[in-house]
Amino acid sequence: MASLTVRQLDEKVKKLLRLRAARHGRSMEDEIRTILGQAAQGSGRDPPEAIDPPARAGAQAVRPSFATPEPSRERPATSSARRVLLIIGGGIAAYKSLDLIRRLQDHGIAVRCILTKAAQEFVTPLAAGALAGGHVHTDLFDPKSEFDVGHIRLARDTDLVVVAPATADLMAKMAGGHADDLASAVLLATDQPILIAPAMNPMMWSHKATQRNLARLLDDGVITVGPDAGEMAERGEAGTGRMAEPTAIAAAAVTLLDATAGQRPLAGKRIVITSGPTHEPIDPVRYIANRSSGKQGHAIAAAAAAAGADVTLVSGPVNLADPPGVRTVKVESARQMLDAVEKALPADCAIFAAAVADWRVANATSEKIKKTKAGMPPLSLVENPDILATIAHRKLGRPRLVVGFAAETENLIANAKDKLERKGCDWIIANDVSSESGVMGGDSNKVHIVTASGVEDWPPQSKDGVARALVGRIAAALVKEPS
Ligand code: CTP
Repeated sequence: MASLTVRQLDEKVKKLLRLRAARHGRSMEDEIRTILGQAAQGSGRDPPEAIDPPARAGAQAVRPSFATPEPSRERPATSSARRVLLIIGGGIAAYKSLDLIRRLQDHGIAVRCILTKAAQEFVTPLAAGALAGGHVHTDLFDPKSEFDVGHIRLARDTDLVVVAPATADLMAKMAGGHADDLASAVLLATDQPILIAPAMNPMMWSHKATQRNLARLLDDGVITVGPDAGEMAERGEAGTGRMAEPTAIAAAAVTLLDATAGQRPLAGKRIVITSGPTHEPIDPVRYIANRSSGKQGHAIAAAAAAAGADVTLVSGPVNLADPPGVRTVKVESARQMLDAVEKALPADCAIFAAAVADWRVANATSEKIKKTKAGMPPLSLVENPDILATIAHRKLGRPRLVVGFAAETENLIANAKDKLERKGCDWIIANDVSSESGVMGGDSNKVHIVTASGVEDWPPQSKDGVARALVGRIAAALVKEPS
């Protein structure tokens, strides 16, 4: 079958086509496909709005798909698919980005790809194009790409930009506002949210320069997913720097697309959340801990960020990925947690989901305690600061809404009411953490919202469900009582 590209059309037709495509908010290829579709149905008129409406301010739900001239995959995007522009950076993790294309498509997302020059050392444009089902863009000065789409259109004609892997170099370019190749120019020109999945050697990740660039990018509103800790591709190297798994990146992209499609009721609000257990050292190798997994607190942080809040998550040691779009501060002990919370203030709302150890060891040693004939030395315990009560009782700079949790194994509601009063908070989310409930470490939760005006019983649901419902309730409370 003969093929025709936009470039081969005569100038007059191209001009008309460009105007018509711009009017409908489509790429030129998409416009041709729509016209051909219309012709096949026997109509030569302008396509009716119902088939493919032009992008309207605020109308995010139905948008044109990327051009997929000759789809080679069975999962092409539909014309109403949400769109991701995937920028693949030059790192060994680039091979995982091919899988990411599939994972995004599994969510019905249309993917268009840009490969940096360095990325092409790891994966080929042909492979990425075959998976994405379309032309892969590589060069700022490629006359064909620039003419058909153009880097400004690439930057704008998407609902989300995902950078995976985001190398140290690409992050530095983004932080510095460079635009000397297609990827950096698009990242500078886009007005859509940007999600980055950093991937690099642990030394490069922890280097002050990278952390400085990361802080600047977070400040600019860039959202991160990962990196994870674990073994690196280089033999014998381990630490934090592995790119998040494609399923995790795709899930973060979906959360962001959902958030931008819907309302962002917490936009402009600052929220501080504690999560996970604390570890209280006995000696350099032993500590006191508890069974908290951090799942509920992390889910609340993710839901609050998806609702547009500026979230600081102060997390004890957990085995969970940092939620996307959240500033995560990692601490170990209760005293470190209090310190990090105080540094994160002021905030509109503070949520204390952490299972803070009530006591710490007063005589923790700097050397490992050895077994002796005298037996185990006595541990003397002192009470930890109550972070929730400290913040809730602040005279100056108290968040408008202070939410605590009550983890109880008996007399759930009575104990929760007592905590509400004693700790001076506005709401207590009471949950049964007895071993039969399966809440500690599990994925579901049954909570009761205890406030000064009464008790509300919520049905059992996933921790994500509780998080979303709670965030909705918080948004309503903050809107009802504006500052
Ligand atoms: N909390 C806190 N700092 C502490 C202890 C608890 O911030 N040192 C917070 C928790 O994050 C939670 C609430 O206080 O929001 C209640 O925690 P919980 O463990 O249920 O209660 P405790 O205060 O520890 O009391 P008890 O152990 O007697 O039930």
